[in-house]
Order: sequence, then structure tokens, then C-alpha cells
Amino acid sequence: MKEQLENILKTTLSDISRANTADDAEAIRIKVLGRKGELTAILRSLGSLSHEEKSVLGKRSNEIKKIIENSIDEKMAAFSEISADQLCRDEWLDVTLNKPALFTGRGRMHILSQVQYEIEDIFSSMGFMIVDGPEAEIEYYNFEALNIPKHHPARDMQDTFWTEDGNLLRTQTSAIQIRAMEKHKPPFKMLGPGRVFRYEAVDASHEHTFHQIEGMMVDKDISVSNLIYIMKECLSAIFKKDITVRLRPSYYPFVEPGFDLDFQCMICGGKGCKVCKQNGWLEFLGCGLVHPKVLRAGKIDPDKWSGFAFGMGLERLVQMRYGINDIRHYQSGDLRFLSQF
Ligand code: DAH
Repeated sequence: MKEQLENILKTTLSDISRANTADDAEAIRIKVLGRKGELTAILRSLGSLSHEEKSVLGKRSNEIKKIIENSIDEKMAAFSEISADQLCRDEWLDVTLNKPALFTGRGRMHILSQVQYEIEDIFSSMGFMIVDGPEAEIEYYNFEALNIPKHHPARDMQDTFWTEDGNLLRTQTSAIQIRAMEKHKPPFKMLGPGRVFRYEAVDASHEHTFHQIEGMMVDKDISVSNLIYIMKECLSAIFKKDITVRLRPSYYPFVEPGFDLDFQCMICGGKGCKVCKQNGWLEFLGCGLVHPKVLRAGKIDPDKWSGFAFGMGLERLVQMRYGINDIRHYQSGDLRFLSQF
């Protein structure tokens, strides 16, 4: 029995040293010290021994029991330390930490987004739906369908970022027109705001990434007077006063006739000042009556339907409204600029 006792001690200690988890250690405890455990059985059988043997083996059995218990307790303590460490690492958020969060300042919407949403509201109130399109486009939507075929000189008006697989970053939100026509049956009115990209040298008035807002109305018997009315309404709502506009003939392949729309300088009332470069007028957007080829590309019959379209630059508009003198401020990420609005 003595030998059996020493064996239990030896194997149990070696089992404990190899235990990897608290569950392993607990299993060892049950196997040896549990109700039906190996050592428990020996302790129970001591009663049948002679007095002499009982005192020797009884003493040793209790020593061994103590050694094993201590060893298991030690192991358990080590495991619980590890799991506390683990917990700190995995669940580092201490909700009991009673400290106020550092105040980092509240963010706000970028001024370009603010004005974009304002313009969306104005046009929505006139029945325009707000539509979207991808920033990375295929050549067809950005050029071909807009009556700008390959090798057409009008492609040179817009320096383009091409991707290696022959696609491009859209140079104009006009691409959204075609997508809208494909999707919606006339009559409809749509507004397509978005980011556009040009391969430009950046300076105070040029950016490689900027925003346009495209508009289009397709219905029966649309004329230039519909266009002028809508633009006047829109500008007056944006600037919150009556605005005088004029059209100058201009060339855009996707409209015929095409125009540039100017509005009278609000600073000098048209007399000429620094802002309008003594001109009295400020160029605001390109527009015109949608070219029949473009309607056809949008699966719309130009004999039945007609439309107007326009495209305005958002940065210029916001610059005029707030007197911002450099287009580069918008993307500078400079909080001194951004937090003014
Ligand atoms: N896409 C033109 C540009 O980026 C702007 C434009 C002109 C849009 C005339 C139109 C339009 O819809 O009819 O310069």
C-alpha cells in the first residue's frame, strides 16, 4: 500500500504539471481526491489495517493529500491569473473607470455637402428626383452616349484620369443623365449631384477633384424658357434674393442649342467690381436643350420628347456665396477653414 501511495503522488504531480487548463486540473482533483478518487479509496481502507500500519500509512496518506491539494490550488491560481490577463487584453474597455471622456470637439458636415443638400431640397420641392451614379465610369456613359465619340476634339476639353483597363474617373456628372434616362420613363425631372475628376494642375481656381450638380427635365415641348425659369427659381432660392440671369451661346456636344448661363453680380448689381472682374456678370453653369442623339442613347424617342439639361459646379457656387478665395481650401482638411461653416 505504501508503494501504491507513492505512485499516486508521483503520477498525480506529473499530471498536474502537464495540465493546460483549469478544467484539466479539476479533472485530476476528482480522479484522485473525489468521492471515488484513488486516494480517497485508500484513506477509506485504512480502517481495516492494524494500529501500527494505520498510524504510519495514515500520516503519509494525509501528507500526500495535502501536497496534491496544494499543488492543484497553485495550478488553479496560475490559471486564473492567466485568464485575468487575457481578459484585460481582450476586453480592455473598463466600464468602471469613472473618468469623463476627453472632449475632442464635435464634427460637422462639410460646407460643400451642406450646400449640396440645400440645392437638393430646392429641386426636390420642384419635383426633381435625386439620382446617383458611379464615380468610376465606363467611357460610354461619360463620353460616347453624350455625343462625344472617340477622337472627337471635345474629349480634349476634359483631361481625363483613365484606368489601366480602359475605364475612367467620370469627368462630368452628365454621365448620370444617361443612366437616369435608361432607368426612368419620361416625363421626369432629375438632379444628379456628385464628385468628378479631371487631370488638372491644381491652383487657386482648379482642382483635380470637385463637385458638379447635373439637372435634367424630359417632357413634351420643353423649351429654353422652361430652362430659364427653373434656373432663376433655383438661384433665387440659393442666394435668397431675386437673381437676374442671361444666356450666352456656347458649345457642349450633348445639347443643341447649348448655352452658358451667367447671373448678374450680386456685389455690384451689375455695375462691375473685383468679384465679377468688372464684368457685371458671373458665369454659373452650362446648359441647353438635350441633343436628339443623347435622348436616343437614353432610349427616349426625340420625336415625342424633348428636354433641357444643365451642369453646375458646386465649388464655384459656394465660393461666391461665402467669398472663399481659393478652391484648395475645400480639401485641405484644415479645421480653421472647415469649422467656419
Ligand atoms: N458637363 C459639362 C461640363 O462639365 C457641364 C454641362 C454643360 C452640363 C451643359 C450639361 C449641359 O448638362 O447641358 O463642363
